[in-house]
Amino acid sequence: MTPLDFAREEDVFASGAYWREYYTELGHENAAAGEFLREIAAPLMPIGGLDLLDAGCGPTALYWALFVPGQNRIEGFDLNPANIAHAERQIAQARAGTIDPSLEAAARHAVDLFGLKISPAEHIRRKAQQIRKLGTGDLTRPWPCEKGRYDFVQSVFALECLPSWESFEFALNQAARALMPGGRLALVNVSRTNEWHCNGMGFPTLNLTLDGMKQRIAGTGLELIEIREVESKDVSVRDQGYGSIILTAAQKPLRASA
Ligand SMILES: C[S@@+](CC[C@H](N)C(=O)[O-])C[C@H]1O[C@@H](n2cnc3c(N)ncnc32)[C@H](O)[C@@H]1O
Repeated sequence: MTPLDFAREEDVFASGAYWREYYTELGHENAAAGEFLREIAAPLMPIGGLDLLDAGCGPTALYWALFVPGQNRIEGFDLNPANIAHAERQIAQARAGTIDPSLEAAARHAVDLFGLKISPAEHIRRKAQQIRKLGTGDLTRPWPCEKGRYDFVQSVFALECLPSWESFEFALNQAARALMPGGRLALVNVSRTNEWHCNGMGFPTLNLTLDGMKQRIAGTGLELIEIREVESKDVSVRDQGYGSIILTAAQKPLRASA
């Protein structure tokens, strides 16, 4: 039996296994992904605080919010209500001053990156205040947001979990629609694999490559501004089913039809 034979027998998000395996340590991938979010969002900062959407936010809306500088207004959605509940619990705890040690490790890295003179706990508290709305929503159906609403759309380890390339392309087009002209999309995805692992089980993924991603971004009308593949060092310390990730960023043209 392969890991994929076990997939979906357990909700690894609701059980907490996903958070434990992928977020207890900052790790190489999370540091790389967080640094990438900052790199792509930071040039937008002269505009002021960003209207930010985390699409397929899972339980990590607050975790990834830590890496986007500024006084932002953050929204997010995910298919799985257990993930929204997890994220909302964490946000409520952070606002009340109770800090998860995994979040603290990520916040320490973000505070260093940003050169902030505040504690990681204070950074987490401020970011928790910036999260305005989380809810359930489906990446493969029209997204629950207005056209041209956001400066920044981020989607981390989510689009590759969709069931088909048609749904992947649909979601990319919805991201393009959600962005305002000049707004940016940042994607983090696992690459060159058909499954990712959690709790000894395999979950199917679309097999992403650099060339495939470039073609699909071109199909949205967005302008590719950065794409790179990063070999994962975390593969040596956990069973994750993939050895690399792709970091992609694209911008909506100022005169856009997307
Ligand atoms: C590997 S997790 C990543 C979650 C989070 N963004 C992170 O960085 O940890 C994949 C996420 O995609 C979500 N997802 C899968 N299919 C979806 C869909 N059709 N619409 C919305 N979310 C979906 C899952 O519920 C899950 O939270």
